[in-house]
Amino acid sequence: MVPELEKATVRIRQPERVRGIIQALRERGVARLQVISDFDMTLSRFGCNGRRCPTSHNILDTSRVISEDGKKKLKDLLHYYYPIEIDPNRTLEEKRPLMVEWWTKAHELLVQQKIHKSDIAQIVRESEAMLRDGFKEFFDQLHKNNVPLFIFSAGVGDILEEIIRQANVFYSNVNVVSNYMGFSDDGVLTHFKGPLIHTYNKNNTVLQGTGYFQQLSTRTSIILLGDSMGDLTMADGVPSVENILKIGFLNDKVEERRRKYLDSYDIVLESDETLDVVNGILRYIL
Ligand code: TMP
Ligand code: MG
Repeated sequence: MVPELEKATVRIRQPERVRGIIQALRERGVARLQVISDFDMTLSRFGCNGRRCPTSHNILDTSRVISEDGKKKLKDLLHYYYPIEIDPNRTLEEKRPLMVEWWTKAHELLVQQKIHKSDIAQIVRESEAMLRDGFKEFFDQLHKNNVPLFIFSAGVGDILEEIIRQANVFYSNVNVVSNYMGFSDDGVLTHFKGPLIHTYNKNNTVLQGTGYFQQLSTRTSIILLGDSMGDLTMADGVPSVENILKIGFLNDKVEERRRKYLDSYDIVLESDETLDVVNGILRYIL
């Protein structure tokens, strides 16, 4: 059916169920399909050349427009809060207020830096941002088949849009909901527009008023892509879901988190920097 599912990086707890979902997605047809995806560490790479790839926040945090003091403070926040974000031994209820703290503090620091809107394209060009291998086929297949791609990100919208634009795949079927920067009339960052999206509120509560999923009410077949336990609720606002296939990238702390991921995602991709499996499934169902 999908040869890519034989890759060594693929783990599936219920193979029969997964086969059934993929079959159903194919039978229901392309007109019913939509894809909902996280951005950082899902569409973008986790590692490259033995180092960590940057998130959309990291791209800003480490760029030349941030003062040395600002860089240090942002890095300290990352080192304090990231282990909490991915800790399998804390509940989402425990994590949620801490994530709000992290995002709030980070955005306050960024606002102090007088970042110019006109610097963003260059910041992204000079960064080590990288989309996963196979991104072009992924975006192209969805675009050619008029399949809506919803990117739901707790990262920085302006940065991730620029990454996609520079990769020449920001097609008309792509919609992004994320944390967007607000600028003064002379183009200086003054605030982040609400509602604040962090790792663990990626659900309908932050989509009120967008009407996005309501417009796509006939798209009842869903492929969901994520890398965090927080990404599992991204499709909660879809009015009627007939079939959903959840694919999770398990990038970090693989051994400790494997059980949870296997229980929550239909397909788990361990330390896989490519979109091969997703592309293989799309090739089969489109
Ligand atoms: P997402 O992948 O769910 O959209 O989440 C964005 C990621 O951004 C999340 O893994 C934490 C990370 N992040 C940073 O790297 N630096 C920051 O300052 C903040 C607030 C988040
Ligand atoms: Mg992510």
